[in-house]
Amino acid sequence: VKMSLEQAKQVAAYRAVDEFVTNDCIFGVGSGSTVVYAVQRLAERVETENLKVTCVPTSFQAKQLIVKHNLTLGELDTSPVIDVTIDGADEVDSNMTLIKGGGGCLLQEKIVASCSKKLIVIADYTKDSVKLGDRYKKGIPIEVVPLAYVPIQKKIEALYGGEVKLRKAVAKAGPVVTDNGNFILDWLFTNQDLDWDKVSNVIKMIPGVVETGLFVRMCHKAYFGQPEGNVVERQ
Ligand code: A5P
Repeated sequence: VKMSLEQAKQVAAYRAVDEFVTNDCIFGVGSGSTVVYAVQRLAERVETENLKVTCVPTSFQAKQLIVKHNLTLGELDTSPVIDVTIDGADEVDSNMTLIKGGGGCLLQEKIVASCSKKLIVIADYTKDSVKLGDRYKKGIPIEVVPLAYVPIQKKIEALYGGEVKLRKAVAKAGPVVTDNGNFILDWLFTNQDLDWDKVSNVIKMIPGVVETGLFVRMCHKAYFGQPEGNVVERQ
């Protein structure tokens, strides 16, 4: 049987939660549509196995998910060391470099990931690629301070080519504003053979750039839900 994309997300999410969530753990809750299934499964397990888990959110959406499922809400002030974070991704390349931020939550996601002993990615098979840009065509999200967005666009285009676009809101005239009051640029890169670690660091040094959606050497393991209902793991 062919499974839907939603079912592929669900099997990956359930597998990761079952493998990595243990009693008394501090758990980082990612953002996006795949993480919804992870929180569902977590809530189920907390209830049936009577687990004690503290959940640290990576976004406003994640916080709402935690509250909605009556899970214990934590924050970095009191839980600065997270055992495991489970999050989605827009694309995962063969080196486990990620593009994140399709949902605009990259800054808090990267902060929480950086405080986690392990970052586990859950995704459907469409996120699994060899090179960044093979499958995700919306570019690399970059969170910027609003007043600097035009110079940052020009600098990135001059450095690496491609086109850098201001992300527009859907239900409002004007730009997307992040959970942190910033704008998002989407860099439609054309060169797929860049050194992403270096590129991310160079872009981060441009004044006004807050964070990039490139996650290099952060992901411990990825689970890809398949059309047949099985899960492919990459480490
Ligand atoms: C949020 O900013 C993103 O990094 C998400 O983690 C990513 O877009 C994955 O979302 P989906 O699970 O909805 O594809």
